Amino acid sequence: MPFLDLLPGSVVLGPMTKGSNLPYRRLCVELGARVTVGEMTVARRLKQKHRSEFALIRRAPEEPCFGVQLAGNNPDEMAWAAALVASRGADFVDVNLGCPIDYFTSKGLGAALARQPKRVQRIVEEMVRALGGVPVTVKIRLGWNSDHLNYLDVAKAAVDGGAAAVFVHGRTRDARYRFAADWDAVGEVVRAVPVPVIGNGDLLFPHDVEAARQRSGCAAVMVARGGLIKPWLFREMTEGYRELTADDRLAIYQRYVALALEHWGDHDRARAQVADFTRWHFGFWCRYAPRRPDGSWPGMQEREDLVFAVTPLERLLARQDQAAHAWLTDRLLANEAVDPEAAPPPSDEEVDGRNSVQVAG
Ligand SMILES: Cc1cc2nc3c(=O)[nH]c(=O)nc-3n(C[C@H](O)[C@H](O)[C@H](O)COP(=O)(O)O)c2cc1C
Repeated sequence: MPFLDLLPGSVVLGPMTKGSNLPYRRLCVELGARVTVGEMTVARRLKQKHRSEFALIRRAPEEPCFGVQLAGNNPDEMAWAAALVASRGADFVDVNLGCPIDYFTSKGLGAALARQPKRVQRIVEEMVRALGGVPVTVKIRLGWNSDHLNYLDVAKAAVDGGAAAVFVHGRTRDARYRFAADWDAVGEVVRAVPVPVIGNGDLLFPHDVEAARQRSGCAAVMVARGGLIKPWLFREMTEGYRELTADDRLAIYQRYVALALEHWGDHDRARAQVADFTRWHFGFWCRYAPRRPDGSWPGMQEREDLVFAVTPLERLLARQDQAAHAWLTDRLLANEAVDPEAAPPPSDEEVDGRNSVQVAG
């Protein structure tokens, strides 16, 4: 379905290396997501025919609207890659202008590319030309650091180049996840460009989404960690906030394993891959916390006090240690019942480190 038709009011599953893998996107679609973005894909690696990179641009047939995010800084290469991913089914093609990782920024990609608005404009222009109607979007941050905030320049340059929408993650490259996202800055972009703006940062509950929309006036929002911690967030947007039992949550995690086995296969090497991804996802699933007993809401930036975890299964699902994640993964892959009493005991650090730990993300 056309991106711009589906976009208004939607909650987009954002691009996440490892996180927005194909089976995880399918899970989110089953739970109500309509617009999904795959893992960052390096244009040059496509050109060099890396098989692993081609795996990242595959869409699932049931994805209503699938975007591929490309990283690159050469206009011809980006245009070539954009045409390729569109020919393989992408409904829109996004340019990564926010990746903070040194390995990529040292090559002039991601957040480093956003320091050159003119080059951004040229890249978008070439991509638009090559795509003949498939929308090009950009995903930006607010700038390199708080002394170099250039989000309005970058957003305008991208739109001058023909970008059909702008995703704005309301933090700088240097801030990583240290501060809350700045939704007033998202609102400035909304007012500065004539295309839909999709705001991003710190959304975990339907009321967060509503507040962010109100504050910024954005056309839609994007979630990343929120979609990993609570993939049922998409359903909550239409059905309202619901506290899932630990069994309900476990059934969702089990569904992910089934989708992952379907995707990667059921032989030994594929099962190792599924186990690796599932353990990794448990690192986010364990951050789940419901509304607090006093009616207030947990935030994204702090690890929540685990008073809500009363039953043995709730306590097990809230454990942050690798041993618990590996044990749970093994049970889900073997399709065995999860008996919390049989799980390995938590380590001392696990017991001590539960409260108010900064979320790394
Ligand atoms: C595991 C992980 C991987 C990510 N990978 C990408 C990526 O490939 N491309 C990108 O533009 N942003 C990436 N991000 C950033 C998110 O898309 C998003 O902008 C950021 O996490 C803020 O949203 P949130 O507060 O909802 O997490 C990643 C985030 C996480 C947590």
